Amino acid sequence: MQRQQFHITAETGWINDPNAPVYYKGRYHVFFQYHPYSVEWGPMHWGHVVSDDLVTWERLPVALKPEDKQDKDGCFSGTAIVEKDRLYILYTGVVNENGKCFQRQCLAYSDDGIKFLKHPEPVIGSDEVPEGFSPYDFRDPCVFKKEGRFYMLVASRKGEKSDILLYTSFNLIEWKYVGAVLDYPSSGKMIECPCWNEKAGLMIYSDQFSEPRGSEHLNIHSNFFRQGTLDCNKGKFSTISEGIIDYGFDFYAAQFFANTEKTVMIAWMQMWDRNIPCKKEGFAGMLTLPRYVTVKDGRLLQSPVGLDKYISEKTVIDKHDFKGVIKAEGSVYQLKIDAEKINKFKLYVKKGEGEFTSLYIENGFLVLNRSESGEKIIGAEKDEYSLSGIRKMPLQDAENISLTVISDRFSLEIFCEGKALTSTVYAAENSRGIEIEADALNIKAEIGELSFPVKINS
Ligand code: FRU
Repeated sequence: MQRQQFHITAETGWINDPNAPVYYKGRYHVFFQYHPYSVEWGPMHWGHVVSDDLVTWERLPVALKPEDKQDKDGCFSGTAIVEKDRLYILYTGVVNENGKCFQRQCLAYSDDGIKFLKHPEPVIGSDEVPEGFSPYDFRDPCVFKKEGRFYMLVASRKGEKSDILLYTSFNLIEWKYVGAVLDYPSSGKMIECPCWNEKAGLMIYSDQFSEPRGSEHLNIHSNFFRQGTLDCNKGKFSTISEGIIDYGFDFYAAQFFANTEKTVMIAWMQMWDRNIPCKKEGFAGMLTLPRYVTVKDGRLLQSPVGLDKYISEKTVIDKHDFKGVIKAEGSVYQLKIDAEKINKFKLYVKKGEGEFTSLYIENGFLVLNRSESGEKIIGAEKDEYSLSGIRKMPLQDAENISLTVISDRFSLEIFCEGKALTSTVYAAENSRGIEIEADALNIKAEIGELSFPVKINS
């Protein structure tokens, strides 16, 4: 069976959003939306994995099941907070009644990070949605603490737009509404998975049916950041800068880890409304490699967590004043390339019989083309780039680049100038070719093949 080697997937079944990523009692925990009984989305459970280093993961039993009166039709996404050594989870309980899907905010807690007890009632009921907002689109609580009080952000729909609602509490059980926080609306119809990191001054959120922007943001469902300040007394967020988080095809529902020193983010490496070729392998959906995030001059800077200790073999390339093609091989690797004074740069990865994925510089953009990558992926996007398998990332300096490509069996995560481009790629197992076609000065490349002593997906 073909599996990812180090990205979080389900053993079998469907996964989507990462939920409540948190550092708790010395280990990193990630929960995720999980349907264990089929490769299709269904009544949501919370799957659970744990790690010492954010790279290799161990499976733990399902943390939440949709089996109680407050969440009998689904335990939707949520976040975690650690308070006096106890791990609390706030999540959305879904209950279908008379053909309507009511969403309410629920609480569960654990003292060992493995077994969770649910509070028997929702802590914010569907009837506590403020005037004009929908109790059927009222989900994905983000909980945090500031100056001795707890706060919760919840996404909710108002007509054809949506906002992020702020509630406050002294005990995580009784909550009071403060306000709808966004200073201007998002471009889409429904915000999902809002997440606020006070230290970084960053709000991230996903947005369904968002307006495309130029050629850089073409995913119908996309993920955005807003750098800014959140006034919890007034319930108002003020945006300083904003943008999309990732330029690739497959990045949604990003979340920050709670309780970490550095800001660490993880997302669903997949997208709604697309076919998912690995369903035939018995699983659907995977999460990104966690990445560190900072903000500088209004720009989001991302870098992947360190993989160096898992490099088993290294190929080093060092060429001065080079024009031609450099060939290598690999399937699961970290590739770092620096090149200066570029006239031409094209990288082929996952190259095999009649298939390849290309990454090249064109008109100031780093372009990914997965149209010849192997199994076809068809999405809901009908623009010319999406139909041609293309995603583009703007470069500040397209003549001198420093690129990192992280390749797992079915995915590519590309980092350049602190920006990221993430996409699934379903190439054949023996499509292992790497080719650097370049005309540039000082090409330095390092291909580090990755091997993991313990594999989550073996
Ligand atoms: C985002 C989302 C969330 C919801 C969850 C359901 O991908 O739609 O809004 O909680 O997935 O699985």
